[in-house]
Amino acid sequence: MMIRTPPGFTIIDEGRTKLVVPLSSLRTNAPERVPAFFNPRGSNVRDISSLAYAAYSSGRSGRVYCDPMAGVGARALRTIVEAPGVTRAMINDLNPTAINAARVAASLNGVLNRIDFSVSGATAFLERVASQQERPDIMDIDPFGSPTNLVEPALRALKENSLISITATDTAPLSGLYRAVAFRKYFGFSNRTDYSRELALRLLCSMAIRRAMSLDGFLEPVFVHSDQHYMRCYFIYRKGAEEGNMSLRRFGYVSHCPSCGQRESSDIPKTSCRVCGKSMKYSGLTWLGRLFNPDFVAYMLSQIRERRQEKYRKLLQTAAEELSEPPYYFRLPDLADSLGIMSASPSLVVKELKGAGWRASLTSIDSQGVRTDADITEVKRALRSLSPVET
Ligand SMILES: C[S@@+](CC[C@H](N)C(=O)[O-])C[C@H]1O[C@@H](n2cnc3c(N)ncnc32)[C@H](O)[C@@H]1O
Ligand SMILES: [Zn+2]
Repeated sequence: MMIRTPPGFTIIDEGRTKLVVPLSSLRTNAPERVPAFFNPRGSNVRDISSLAYAAYSSGRSGRVYCDPMAGVGARALRTIVEAPGVTRAMINDLNPTAINAARVAASLNGVLNRIDFSVSGATAFLERVASQQERPDIMDIDPFGSPTNLVEPALRALKENSLISITATDTAPLSGLYRAVAFRKYFGFSNRTDYSRELALRLLCSMAIRRAMSLDGFLEPVFVHSDQHYMRCYFIYRKGAEEGNMSLRRFGYVSHCPSCGQRESSDIPKTSCRVCGKSMKYSGLTWLGRLFNPDFVAYMLSQIRERRQEKYRKLLQTAAEELSEPPYYFRLPDLADSLGIMSASPSLVVKELKGAGWRASLTSIDSQGVRTDADITEVKRALRSLSPVET
């Protein structure tokens, strides 16, 4: 049978999958919503999703993937083609043109009979999925902006021990701009700091975990990543109130001193800085617990060679070896600027701090960051001792 590409669309290869995408999306820098949304620069994020979903479904079969805002199906098609344990998918979008493109691409990839397509609002779609017998094992929530209102409907549709990935693209409030918006959408404050990326990921996790807790469930973060345009978290969903009750002490605050850069976590906000005595600004209430499950990340790493995705090895290795606390890091180039010196290699600073008796590791959240329980004075000392030349 002849497969027709819709007018204004073209076929591209991404990973091992053929996608049908708007021609216009390949020519602009800012992806447009009409005729359908597709972001060619999102291929790295989708590569990482493929690794995560393959890791989750490896050694199992019959996994069902669900995408309530699938666009042209870029992530959904890559999942069903590239994650061996995923045998069926349910994909939906409000835009019928996008779903038509996804259907054509499904034919091209030979997976048409493994996908249920629908055109509907995401909430109504998820309510329908929740009432069905066949429940998804993997769910992706990838809206424009904040995912907050979709978390509960998504969780109601999921099975026990399923995997849910959640993206937020409203990075400004998550990163400390518009504090009131952060409070409304994420039930806590963020801060503008050199480690805002981590504060943003933690606030997103906190919102999602609290949504799950309100349904007497729990979301365990297993992997997170971000860039300047998105924050993305992967969780395992477990039912039952006990784990949520036990995790109360893993919520709290990260207080930051704008004067000297000291940072601290605690169960109530700190008002004054123990290094310089000036007042601190807090972010929270937020998730202070683990962001990476080392076993899950090891599974992702094990998928790299087969998928020829070596470029993600360093990121994943760093995530697998990263300290789970404190819930912040120090970004060395920012610290070096404040000292008027050149920055030094994060690996050397980690070594120096460990030699001085502190806990320290690299962080996958920022290639120039060092996660450590040392005070800022100690990190400055280590950086000064390693900085090549004064600027
Ligand atoms: C960020 S895009 C998703 C991209 C997709 N995950 C991918 O991998 O390319 C968001 C999608 O949500 C769809 N959308 C927006 N509002 C919606 C709603 N209320 N219900 C369902 N889909 C919606 C848009 O049409 C768009 O395709
Ligand atoms: Zn201070």
